Amino acid sequence: MKILIAAAGKTGTAMTCAERLAVLLEGAQVADLTLSWPDPEEYDAVIVGGSIRMGQLHRKARSYLVQHRDALLARPLGCFICCALTEEAEGYLKKNIPAPLLEHAAAAVCLGGRLAPRARSGMDKFLAASFARSLEKGGRPAPTIDDEAIRQLARQMRLAAGRG
Ligand SMILES: Cc1cc2nc3c(=O)[nH]c(=O)nc-3n(C[C@H](O)[C@H](O)[C@H](O)COP(=O)(O)O)c2cc1C
Repeated sequence: MKILIAAAGKTGTAMTCAERLAVLLEGAQVADLTLSWPDPEEYDAVIVGGSIRMGQLHRKARSYLVQHRDALLARPLGCFICCALTEEAEGYLKKNIPAPLLEHAAAAVCLGGRLAPRARSGMDKFLAASFARSLEKGGRPAPTIDDEAIRQLARQMRLAAGRG
């Protein structure tokens, strides 16, 4: 059973989630969609993930879903997003994942997010810092990667791929 985890992000969160998923789904291959563009036809099941900025899924993850729609509809599919405003996640999933794929997906979930402005530079650092400040002002904790959601997604994909 070959599983592909194809993801795209800007500052490492989506790829960290992809790597953590791969550890749980032994033998799954991780692809960074900003660097490579694997053919889903070569896999038995696929997970596509990406980070959210300004309400939009990373454009490489979105293009991958659109371009490979038919192949993704023909095999077990999982989708994930990384974002800071987890209460908005349902809306982000609906808006960014084509409806037929969302319906077909065994799971489509938010795996949390990270702002970590200190680890960034330039404009990105500035934007992440203002985002973090606005959360703090609203009395909200800094976002983190949700390892329980990662474990749950791995379980759902194992079941969907018949490895349950
Ligand atoms: C410029 C910028 C815009 C963002 N926009 C959103 C947003 O619209 N909604 C949200 O929930 N999170 C937003 N975030 C938080 C990111 O989704 C979060 O930092 C995520 O972990 C980034 O993933 P990555 O490291 O894979 O790029 C934004 C972060 C930055 C820096």
